[in-house]
Amino acid sequence: MTNLLVTGGAGFIGSNFLNYILEDGEDYNIVNLDKLTYAGNLENLTQIESKKNYHFIKGDIGNYELVNHIFEEFKIQKVINFAAETHVDRSILGSEVFFRTNVIGTNVLLEAAKRFSVEKFLQVSTDEVYGSLGNAGLFTEDTPISPNSPYSSSKASADLMAMSFYRTYGLPVVITRCSNNYGAYQFPEKLIPLMIINALNDKKLPVYGDGMNVRDWIYVIDHNKAVKLALEKGEAGQVYNVGASNEMPNIEIIKLILKRLGKSENLIEYVKDRPGHDRRYAIDSTKIQNELGWKPAFNFEEAIEKTIDWYLGNQVWWQRIISGEYQKYYQLQYEKRNS
Ligand code: NAD
Ligand code: DAU
Repeated sequence: MTNLLVTGGAGFIGSNFLNYILEDGEDYNIVNLDKLTYAGNLENLTQIESKKNYHFIKGDIGNYELVNHIFEEFKIQKVINFAAETHVDRSILGSEVFFRTNVIGTNVLLEAAKRFSVEKFLQVSTDEVYGSLGNAGLFTEDTPISPNSPYSSSKASADLMAMSFYRTYGLPVVITRCSNNYGAYQFPEKLIPLMIINALNDKKLPVYGDGMNVRDWIYVIDHNKAVKLALEKGEAGQVYNVGASNEMPNIEIIKLILKRLGKSENLIEYVKDRPGHDRRYAIDSTKIQNELGWKPAFNFEEAIEKTIDWYLGNQVWWQRIISGEYQKYYQLQYEKRNS
């Protein structure tokens, strides 16, 4: 039994991870530390909340006393740091909390991990730290870090800091850098759920720029299998890229969603571009495939269908979200900005 601290486990990827790893697994005793920001939702975790080897603590990864208390009390042996502010558009509206959580918060975790000599610290990072690609080429682990948004620069800072703890103190840090995820429980500020929900509500679908920006999509379960492998077998001091070789221009995904929902393309509305908008991401995941034996199991056609069906079948989940603070965010991001 390993005592594992998972941070940000009430968010999209973290909750999918906990539901996956605790489904029938008894190998881990898990503490989920989550601040429950607008993006954190305990409804994502109802299927595992009563498990004996699962404990939820509401709190901030930047809270030094709380974090140290958790390491001591639960004798934490391994850490997966999912917790972060994650939305590029919100980081453009205001960056301070991104640096507070993603950089300072990660520093508090790293310091505690060092003090309590953990066996593994897995920093969940993103392909966005590499910046933007032209029409050709793929991000490898050797691609220079060159982030463009406040969000990605905060994640890049955390990566550099985490690796410095490996080099300076020998803390067994592993970093995964994954491409764009999709699946159940994704907060509807992100492209795929936002477009599904707007289409279901017959609202306009706001496409930034010319709609030809390319993202490399991976189903969240495939990402989480890579996270588990990296936690168990990843080599200290190494970075592993994670991606499913599934590049698509945004407009193609949006049209696919409309078609699947039987809605008209007249709902598409081209709006002002995102400032500093990265043109293309594409991941080379050869290293994790060769060294850890990971490979994606889901193809896009099958998994996007499952994802759309999930949003169709879980309207109460997203209706509660879009009736709250989300409305204010939506107005600020879309209505005021484009008028
Ligand atoms: P999310 O925004 O859905 O969830 C983030 C979670 O972190 C929420 O539960 C939130 O309450 C929690 N949190 C935020 N600030 C916190 C703090 N100070 N202390 C404790 N908890 C805090 O994010 P996600 O999409 O699930 O992303 C998870 C991680 O994966 C992030 O580190 C992100 O950078 C990375 N990532 C995401 C993607 C993607 O496509 N979504 C791709 C690659 C990497
Ligand atoms: O690549 C991994 C990253 O993917 C993660 O690190 C981030 O946490 C995650 O948010 C995601 O970042 P993106 O900026 O790529 O995701 P987003 O869903 O915000 O946007 C995807 C693409 O869709 C991007 O080119 C912008 C475009 N877009 C997005 C929204 C929300 C639109 O055209 N209209 C929109 O309303």
